[in-house]
Amino acid sequence: MESSHRFLLMALIVASSFVHHVQAQTEFISLDCGLSPSEQSPYIEVETGLNFSSDSSFIQSGKIGRIDASLEWKYPKSQTTLRYFPDGLRNCYNLSVHKGRNYLIRATSNYGNYDGQNVSPRFDLYIGPNFWVTIDLEKHVNGDTWEEIIHIPKSNSLDVCLIKTGTSTPIMSALELRALPNDTYNTGSSSLKSILRSYLSESTKVTRFPDDIHDRIWVPHFESEWKQISTALNVDNSLNSYFVPKELLMTAAIPANASAPLSFSKDLEFPNDKLIIYFHFTEVQALQANQTREFSIVWNGEEIYPTMRPQYLGVTTVYTRVPSLCEVGKCLLQLKRNHNSTLPPLLNAIEVLTVMKLPQSETNADDVIAIKNIKNANRLSRISWQGDPCVPRQFLWEGLSCHDTNVTTPPRIISLNLSSSGLTGNIATGIQNLTHLQKLDLSNNNLTGLVPEFLADMKSLLLIDLRKNKLNGSIPKTLRDREKKGLQLFVDGDDKKGDGNKCLSNSCVPKKKFPVMMVALAISAVLIETKRRRFTYSEVVEMTKNFQIALGEGGFGVVYHGYLNDSDQVAVKVLSQSSSQGYKHFKAEVELLLRVHHINLVSLIGYCDERDHLALIYEYMPNGDLRDHLSGKKGDSVLKWTSRLQIGVDAALGLEYLHYGCRPSMVHRDVKCTNILLDDHFRAKIADFGLSKSFQVGDESEVSTVLAGTPGYLDPEYYRTCRLAEMSDVYSFGIVLLEMITNQHVIDQAREKPHITEWVAFVLSEGDITRIVDPNLHGEYNSRSVWRALELGMSCANPSSEKRPNMSQVVIDLKECITSENSMKSKNKDSDSHGSLELSSSFDTDVAPSAR
Ligand SMILES: *[C@@H]1O[C@H](CO)[C@@H](O)[C@H](O)[C@H]1NC(C)=O
Ligand SMILES: *[C@@H]1O[C@H](CO)[C@@H](O)[C@H](O)[C@H]1NC(C)=O
Ligand SMILES: *[C@@H]1O[C@H](CO)[C@@H](O)[C@H](O)[C@H]1NC(C)=O
Ligand SMILES: *[C@@H]1O[C@H](CO)[C@@H](O)[C@H](O)[C@H]1NC(C)=O
Ligand SMILES: *[C@@H]1O[C@H](CO)[C@@H](O)[C@H](O)[C@H]1NC(C)=O
Ligand SMILES: *[C@@H]1O[C@H](CO)[C@@H](O)[C@H](O)[C@H]1NC(C)=O
Ligand SMILES: *[C@@H]1O[C@H](CO)[C@@H](O)[C@H](O)[C@H]1NC(C)=O
Ligand SMILES: *[C@@H]1O[C@H](CO)[C@@H](O)[C@H](O)[C@H]1NC(C)=O
Ligand SMILES: *[C@@H]1O[C@H](CO)[C@@H](O)[C@H](O)[C@H]1NC(C)=O
Ligand SMILES: *[C@@H]1O[C@H](CO)[C@@H](O)[C@H](O)[C@H]1NC(C)=O
Ligand SMILES: *[C@@H]1O[C@H](CO)[C@@H](O)[C@H](O)[C@H]1NC(C)=O
Ligand SMILES: *[C@@H]1O[C@H](CO)[C@@H](O)[C@H](O)[C@H]1NC(C)=O
Repeated sequence: MESSHRFLLMALIVASSFVHHVQAQTEFISLDCGLSPSEQSPYIEVETGLNFSSDSSFIQSGKIGRIDASLEWKYPKSQTTLRYFPDGLRNCYNLSVHKGRNYLIRATSNYGNYDGQNVSPRFDLYIGPNFWVTIDLEKHVNGDTWEEIIHIPKSNSLDVCLIKTGTSTPIMSALELRALPNDTYNTGSSSLKSILRSYLSESTKVTRFPDDIHDRIWVPHFESEWKQISTALNVDNSLNSYFVPKELLMTAAIPANASAPLSFSKDLEFPNDKLIIYFHFTEVQALQANQTREFSIVWNGEEIYPTMRPQYLGVTTVYTRVPSLCEVGKCLLQLKRNHNSTLPPLLNAIEVLTVMKLPQSETNADDVIAIKNIKNANRLSRISWQGDPCVPRQFLWEGLSCHDTNVTTPPRIISLNLSSSGLTGNIATGIQNLTHLQKLDLSNNNLTGLVPEFLADMKSLLLIDLRKNKLNGSIPKTLRDREKKGLQLFVDGDDKKGDGNKCLSNSCVPKKKFPVMMVALAISAVLIETKRRRFTYSEVVEMTKNFQIALGEGGFGVVYHGYLNDSDQVAVKVLSQSSSQGYKHFKAEVELLLRVHHINLVSLIGYCDERDHLALIYEYMPNGDLRDHLSGKKGDSVLKWTSRLQIGVDAALGLEYLHYGCRPSMVHRDVKCTNILLDDHFRAKIADFGLSKSFQVGDESEVSTVLAGTPGYLDPEYYRTCRLAEMSDVYSFGIVLLEMITNQHVIDQAREKPHITEWVAFVLSEGDITRIVDPNLHGEYNSRSVWRALELGMSCANPSSEKRPNMSQVVIDLKECITSENSMKSKNKDSDSHGSLELSSSFDTDVAPSAR
């Protein structure tokens, strides 16, 4: 607000009856910024009767200063000291408010040459994450000003921030909050910045608290074309919720020329501001029966209110509902006497406010509370840890990262890095309230105590780093379980992943643990050999917690989730007693799995064979089956093309092992997407060997009596001849490849061509490869590698088994697809060439571990 000498005027206010009003300040926050700690706080300011407190418990930064002693007499006490902020870009006051309540917030800055430099500072003020106003004290004659905003906080805390925008040091002299009735100055989602608040009187007295119970500051304004009229009688303002001070309403301005309009104009500093005007009217003359005062309100030439008749000694407030622009930055208000009115128009008080959109949402309130708790618990005093944690982005708290979709969505904290922050004591429990946290790095501190269990319950966590601390005890087993599902956990003495020892340095005796299934074949084979065993039915019941969680249902029974020794997860397939085929398949599977072990085959941990109760206990595959991930049923992001290729290689390696790596050889007979399971790293293993059969390689005369398999995946040649050979698995694998590329159903009667091979051939004949590829990949693939995989899939699914490649060739071809995809990617990184494909000559063996 502008008015060069108003503080001088304010000092002249006769402190009248404030003693009676001190109780009415309960909804006020009045901070005297920079009040010396040696002075009493709170205190009652003589000039205003306001109850001021020191600001020291509302801000953690800044230094205190005092204006030049020669200027002190001009100002009320609260404005003689100030807090200045030489350090940090953003410094924030943190105030307790009521969410949804309407507040008048006033910030007063009075330079007063406190630093002896005689250079008035310039800086910005923010409300939470949103820009409020630029304070440029150079523009103000006395180097002082105040700014007001009417604002509804969206949470129970409110940040008022000073932002350094240049070389000068931001300052704050007083910060005041006044709760307003929520049926006043209500503009829905917008806030209102005050531009002018005046009462029309020849008086020179600036009025605020205690005359104004809401402590608005009313500056008198009068023009030479006006004439003042007034009453000595009491005005009743109690029926009007704006509570304009009575004494201001006892006077009014009328035009000196009774037939001319009452005109009022205002130049705008910012011509693009959209304004809302509040007019307060009280009739101060007792009208005779033959007298009327009636007028219209005209704003920038437009009649906005046709018939105003002020109430005698009552208050009528009129405001413009729709914010409007003033042409060329000059606003003209006119009150025009109506033709049948005997008296000229009148106006008692006026407020001009500009509508401010504060578009940026504050960070999710729960996250804010949580991170502030963590800050307090760890006594963190980082200068950047003030104000909103996430926004605006340039003031993001050091060590945090946040997810912000757009300005209207509250950002969430997704990573907290307090590495090397000198933390001591226990890991703060407040961390568990950061429910969207994905990464937590507390490494290189002096944290003590136990690793808390709650970390395991934080579902979104993907990475925890606790290294280089003084933590004690063992890692909770729930946390180890999370690790098996993909959580990256770093603790001291555990730098090599997967060595099974999750004890903290020297604090407990290492125990041998069932390994994470991503280790090399050599290790898993040995361990499986020693672990595989026979279980009793009661053990199975206990393991599955009485069959609590079903993972899926197959032809021969239901698969349940279970725990082995309360720590390692397993999948337990319980054969339904009604299944006549059950026992046969059960035996087939046990026999096969007891014989084979390969990293790309789901391994058998044990089984239960107790009269009527048959169960198979497998290693648990946390990411379910391939079908789920192609169809998006898991709700995860779509599998990338390279992941799909890798899954293809893994599955092909498993089949290659069945066909050629074990003696006698095996045919799986039920290769399909739902039998390809994914571990926590999305590496694939073949499952469900219930239909598998041994056969002799080269001896193709094995004739199967019963056809088995899944429609659509079934080799048509086998179907015709009943001759069983490994080439039937190749056919089914071809169908799997086509599914991975297209994400089409294997059989879809609604499609031009129901079977997937026919459909692909049909679309290919139309020359449109882009229509074939899964649209969910959004074109993020190298078309050469897709083309190659498609050719491979089609040749695997060739109706004639002689024309199909064997699984070893399939493995080689798929690995080449990966290589070409990767080399294309690295090439695109260097240049923009999307041109011809160049095969890299070196094989990336890490990408595709050889299993034999
Ligand atoms: C001033 O406010 C404080 C709380 O901020 C309160 O404890 C004190 O009683 C108030 N003083 C007066 C005179 O109202
Ligand atoms: C913010 O203010 C509230 C109350 O005024 C206080 O409880 C809280 O600790 C403050 N937070 C910070 C980070 O200073
Ligand atoms: C207005 O404020 C009062 C508290 O003063 C609150 O109880 C009421 O719900 C608020 N009304 C609205 C519409 O926000
Ligand atoms: C008073 O106002 C009327 C209407 O605007 C105008 O015609 C008249 O000249 C004015 N009188 C004087 C004395 O200025
Ligand atoms: C209104 O009535 C009063 C007497 O009650 C009279 O003196 C005055 O002239 C009248 N005014 C008009 C404009 O008729
Ligand atoms: C004066 O005229 C306006 C129309 O211009 C009408 O609405 C109003 O009722 C009239 N007032 C009186 C007192 O006749
Ligand atoms: C912001 O994101 C939310 C949630 O994603 C969405 O509903 C909303 O429409 C978006 N708003 C804008 C302005 O983009
Ligand atoms: C945490 O910050 C440190 C130092 O800035 C950095 O070295 C480390 O990689 C960060 N941790 C994570 C998980 O990003
Ligand atoms: C976590 O949030 C809940 C609910 O807001 C609160 O009751 C609890 O005290 C918080 N816990 C910590 C440790 O901050
Ligand atoms: C741990 O505390 C010791 C002693 O106070 C200190 O010397 C050391 O630097 C601290 N270590 C870390 C990583 O903060
Ligand atoms: C570590 O924990 C054990 C058992 O909980 C306790 O006896 C020991 O004092 C702890 N050591 C430290 C350094 O806190
Ligand atoms: C699991 O518990 C059984 C007894 O309940 C025990 O014999 C076996 O050694 C335990 N296995 C592991 C890996 O702890």
